[in-house]
Amino acid sequence: MVPMDEDKYPPETDRRRFVKGVVGGSSMAAITTAGAAAVNSSTTDVGKGGGSVTYRAIRNTDGPAPRGLPQIPLETDEDGYLKGVWPEAETRTLEDGTEITVAETEIAGVTYSSRWFQYCGVQTYRNIQPDSDHDNYLRYEPATTYDWQRQAVEGGEKVHPEDFVPYEDWTNHIGDPGYGKPADCNWRSHADSVPAEESLAVQVIRSPLIEEAAKEDEWIAASTVKGCLAFMNKCTHFCCIPGFKDSGDAPKFGAANKSYCGCHQSVYDPFDIVEKTYIALPRPDE
Ligand code: FES
Repeated sequence: MVPMDEDKYPPETDRRRFVKGVVGGSSMAAITTAGAAAVNSSTTDVGKGGGSVTYRAIRNTDGPAPRGLPQIPLETDEDGYLKGVWPEAETRTLEDGTEITVAETEIAGVTYSSRWFQYCGVQTYRNIQPDSDHDNYLRYEPATTYDWQRQAVEGGEKVHPEDFVPYEDWTNHIGDPGYGKPADCNWRSHADSVPAEESLAVQVIRSPLIEEAAKEDEWIAASTVKGCLAFMNKCTHFCCIPGFKDSGDAPKFGAANKSYCGCHQSVYDPFDIVEKTYIALPRPDE
């Protein structure tokens, strides 16, 4: 049985809000619809480091996707370039004596871990292994649908909040101004050792709505930079790449100012951050 998705609300309400504390019961749907093996313990015959994990997501508001997209907390280097936080890896011993490696830290009272990203096959990627060493810079994806990105920056360049200026009233032919300016990026995917199929797709949006929310919310203040929000851009339904204002079909599905997955019309709201729980898939090679 696929549980009710309490994460959704009717798209016509179009609420722009930031909500915390919603723990969904729909997480198992992510596993079953993705066709992967459901796992409910932290140790299995085929790997380790899976199991129930609570994370911060941009809310899934419509369509078949079972839950939201995981946020990537941001920090900067001394020159202001954006980096995704990657916690220091450490070894832990489970109750049965098994040792596992975890990358986990506390940010504004939230336990953030690399397990937030262990779905849709990403759990097998080398760059998502807790002790995998990368510089953690967000970089622009060479292939992008955004005209501004093609014109202003090169693929592979590091991402800087100033690149998005002006962003407050930016829009393209989709949706309304005032929601923010998006870019297609990747993360922990720059090294030669990372094959193209293991590139981690990330959406970055610099938005005045995020800046406002950061004044009120401790987590958003700690996990965003100058109105820049980042999240892993892999649909929790069948793992396609959604997009914010990158599809002319989005308005037909109430997603003109949201993130829209054209594969099966799932909609995500980047301006509604929620807490969710799901079953992270185990890493097979540990
Ligand atoms: S809605 Fe099916 S993959 Fe995104």
